[in-house]
Amino acid sequence: MPTYRKFIFVCNGSDCKKSGCKNLQSEIKELIKSEDHKGKFKIIKTKCMDFCKSAPVVVINNEVIKKADLTDLKKKML
Ligand code: FES
Repeated sequence: MPTYRKFIFVCNGSDCKKSGCKNLQSEIKELIKSEDHKGKFKIIKTKCMDFCKSAPVVVINNEVIKKADLTDLKKKML
């Protein structure tokens, strides 16, 4: 089993789905396939994390990213 450096938790609750979490998740998947990130990250889909008003919500490095977008996440993945 690969050893991941970080886990990326992507909320898949209903409000986050309405706010584009599926697209965001696809973008993250593409990003972590790149040479810089290959094998270092694992995406975990979660249920609602109770930050629905700030959807889409992602947790990385134990930090809750509200209204997450790929630009925010790239900074956190360094
Ligand atoms: S649906 Fe994502 S935080 Fe509630």
